[in-house]
Amino acid sequence: RRQIPAEKGLDHTLDLLSQGFHFIPNRRERFQSNIFQTRLMGKKAICLSGKEAARVFYDNRFFKRQGASPNRVKKTLFGQNGVQGMDGEDHKHRKRMFLSLMTPDRLQELQIITQRLWKQKAKEWENADHVVLLKEAEEIMCRAACEWAGVPLLEDEVKQHTTEFSRMIDAFGGTGSRYKKGKKARQHSEKWIQQVIKQVRSGERQPPPYTAAYIIAMHTERNGRKMDTATAAVELINVLRPIVAIGRFIMFGALALHEYPAVEETLRTTDNEKYTRMFVQELRRYYPFAPFIGAVVRKDFLWNEYRLKKGTLVIMDIYGTNHHPELWKEPEVFRPERFRDWEGHPFSFIPQGGGDHYTGHRCAGEWITIMLMKTSIEFLTGHMTYQVPAQDLCYDMARMPTLLNSGFIIENVKAR
Ligand code: HEM
Repeated sequence: RRQIPAEKGLDHTLDLLSQGFHFIPNRRERFQSNIFQTRLMGKKAICLSGKEAARVFYDNRFFKRQGASPNRVKKTLFGQNGVQGMDGEDHKHRKRMFLSLMTPDRLQELQIITQRLWKQKAKEWENADHVVLLKEAEEIMCRAACEWAGVPLLEDEVKQHTTEFSRMIDAFGGTGSRYKKGKKARQHSEKWIQQVIKQVRSGERQPPPYTAAYIIAMHTERNGRKMDTATAAVELINVLRPIVAIGRFIMFGALALHEYPAVEETLRTTDNEKYTRMFVQELRRYYPFAPFIGAVVRKDFLWNEYRLKKGTLVIMDIYGTNHHPELWKEPEVFRPERFRDWEGHPFSFIPQGGGDHYTGHRCAGEWITIMLMKTSIEFLTGHMTYQVPAQDLCYDMARMPTLLNSGFIIENVKAR
């Protein structure tokens, strides 16, 4: 049996908050180990990194999610009683509800809605002095998500709801006002969406039966009953909020177009679906978004001769695995071409979790994310022109999630 390398000290939560995306990779390098032990939020935590670690982390026999996320994350990002914290058959049943929304037809419908919104917005931007792309992309995503999901969105509430979804996401690693804003945003959004659930259930509102609003409101649990209103609202928000999150990847996409002119040139001049896809994959690999994900050891077991004990908190490094030098050649170089002959692997490229979508916790919205990123990049490169004025394009790797200080400002927009 081997000893898990352990870092000394009573607690390292403050280091986590000050080192952000680098916290686990720094230590993995220092210990030269894909497993090490630290202390977070007053308790022992084991951190894992890399492909083989992801393989075991996504094995339901060894890990569960109940009790894995801290309350402060449930009060902001996730909500109470959502799919993220479920296990076993209950989880699979709930997960199928989400996955039933992801058919090719429905994805295409979302794509068409989103293309229409980009077109409208680009026309509006022609008359603006400048626009902050992150804000605008989030608004497009919020409008598209609600329309697609059958959720009514009043014109004079669009900006508020967009901001609220964005704040729930932003609160993840936040303390103080960022956390408070996220919590308030969730409370307010849940109230709104609970009303929608009630109206769908009473028949007062009748979204088509294939929409998320309908499917989630009418979904029956394994016990044959509908979810309580609060839980149904949490799950409908679990569809809307992460679509708004795609705005951050679009912002990073615009940054990459700006910083790598040769890549932009290829995207602008060739009508090449495959290259756009490679670009989107590299965006998801390279730029920081989800830092890590937690689970709890279900029962004592041995992994690579290391003993993991029941009840221990385990944290899987998402960002670090996507930048792992054992898995990626020159991981700190942005290079879409690395995905040209990439065969796909469920555990080495995990920007939205690893393993299987149906049996595990891997993101239900991965297809939507890739499609909407492609659609948006195609729009930015093929259907509009703009200039990028001098601005602060830095992003803070200690912040989780992070964003460009300027949000990416563009000007002189012309729709084509
Ligand atoms: C789960 C990332 C977009 C719905 C997850 C997880 C990550 C993630 C890291 C956790 C995986 C795990 O627990 O092991 C992202 C990122 C997105 C995105 C970075 C894009 C910005 C979406 C979209 C949807 C969605 C567009 C739905 C429309 C979900 C759901 C889960 C999930 C329902 C919970 C799955 C489960 O616990 O079984 N996502 N996601 N996500 N995501 Fe996404």
